[in-house]
Amino acid sequence: MQPVLQAIYDRRSRREFTDQIIDVEVLNEIIKAGIWAPSGLNNQPWRFVVITDPAVIKELSTTTHYTHIVEGAPALIAVYLDTQTMYDEVKDHQAVGACIQNMLLAIEDLGLGGVWLGQILKNKNDVSDILGVGDDYDLMAVLALGHPAKTDQQSNRKNLEDFILKYI
Ligand SMILES: Cc1cc2nc3c(=O)[nH]c(=O)nc-3n(C[C@H](O)[C@H](O)[C@H](O)COP(=O)(O)O)c2cc1C
Repeated sequence: MQPVLQAIYDRRSRREFTDQIIDVEVLNEIIKAGIWAPSGLNNQPWRFVVITDPAVIKELSTTTHYTHIVEGAPALIAVYLDTQTMYDEVKDHQAVGACIQNMLLAIEDLGLGGVWLGQILKNKNDVSDILGVGDDYDLMAVLALGHPAKTDQQSNRKNLEDFILKYI
């Protein structure tokens, strides 16, 4: 199969990690894959906070229902939308989604594992307070990542026919 298609189909949400740390060069490579996502007008509205400090990770783990995932991860990437850079509400949000998916695919391709955490947005103000990020930046997701402790996760999708409204 074509490598990009293979990566898309092989990517799974990984929620358990070993203690092995991730070098900053690797984290930067993941973010680089993110920023090569398309964005309307090439606006690049995404911003990131890279977190590897265990004390900060522990603190952030209290802001979500998924405490165990966050506190078990050697690294987190908080993904923000820069609302001051935003030119179109819908398109800039879509661009950040594309950026996040690029990062997830890069994480998998680098032999790591990660998961897109959205539930944590319920407490996004607490997250931003902990990270010292101001009001101009709106939290879109937190990625938890690390070396996967297991890789046998299964997932499924509905049938293609369930999504296609029509062929014309
Ligand atoms: C917007 C969004 C929010 C998500 N939030 C969470 C979350 O808070 N916790 C979690 O464990 N997984 C979360 N996920 C991961 C989904 O549960 C996962 O992608 C889905 O079950 C399909 O599994 P797969 O990624 O292994 O194919 C989220 C995914 C997306 C796109």
